[in-house]
Amino acid sequence: MKKILIVGATSGIGEGLARWYAEHGNARIGVTGRRRERLEDLRQWRPGVFETEVCDVTDTVAMEAALERLAARLGGLDLLVLSAGTGDLNPSLDYAVEQPTLSINVTGWTCVADWAVRFFERQGQGHLVAITSAGGLRGSGAAPAYNATKAFQMNYLEGLRQRLAGKRLPVAVTDVRPGFVDTAMAKGEGLFWVAPVEKACRQIVRAIGRRKRVAYVTRRWRIAAWIYRHLPDSLFLRMGG
Ligand SMILES: NC(=O)c1ccc[n+]([C@@H]2O[C@H](COP(=O)([O-])OP(=O)(O)OC[C@H]3O[C@@H](n4cnc5c(N)ncnc54)[C@H](OP(=O)(O)O)[C@@H]3O)[C@@H](O)[C@H]2O)c1
Repeated sequence: MKKILIVGATSGIGEGLARWYAEHGNARIGVTGRRRERLEDLRQWRPGVFETEVCDVTDTVAMEAALERLAARLGGLDLLVLSAGTGDLNPSLDYAVEQPTLSINVTGWTCVADWAVRFFERQGQGHLVAITSAGGLRGSGAAPAYNATKAFQMNYLEGLRQRLAGKRLPVAVTDVRPGFVDTAMAKGEGLFWVAPVEKACRQIVRAIGRRKRVAYVTRRWRIAAWIYRHLPDSLFLRMGG
């Protein structure tokens, strides 16, 4: 039986993955998030499958303790999916809007990623999967902290992969880069190719099964991401703000 931990499982992609693995995955699943009632919904939906811990990733001491408790209750860990994240449009470039994005997507996120890699190194195997974003490939005038923190995450995952390669351990790191998925996080005008959560989750599960290094979701976002990455500045800078 697979032992899975999902950080940010109370809605959107994290919840979709939790439900998918509960239905198809022959798994025991630890789930976290700040909203207790959403975790309780999961527990009642499939009794005996879920272990829950209410926790805020920005409270790093409490977060590490919660992760340890969940892993102990699951009896080990094969896969940790780090889906927790936030981001807001910030037309007035107000630091108060950016601050939660920095603390959740950088400080809290790093605490969980580091904990997972240390755990898997100790255990001798495992798989860390983080939901970053195709947006992290370029800056954003509309939500500067969001794209910048996603770039941080993508870079950090590469660093973890390099660390693990040096140790020759069977610990995989997968960077899932969604385009747009139909959740509360999909904000702003002009969204396109918005994937339903179920479709995005099916593709994420496949990428996890293949232990891919980087996966775009949905798959056609690989092409869009390439174009976006290579747009000349003269064009890119006129596209938003
Ligand atoms: N939807 C998109 O179009 C899209 C595109 C690219 C990337 N992504 C990425 O996908 C990931 C999941 O987002 P989503 O689209 O599924 O949106 P969502 O429904 O808003 O889910 C965000 C999850 O993060 C958790 N979270 C947020 N702040 C937290 C905190 N301080 N402590 C603990 N958990 C926290 C939330 O739980 P609580 O509120 O209960 O704490 C929730 O479970 C994010 O990293 C996002 O950047 C989404």
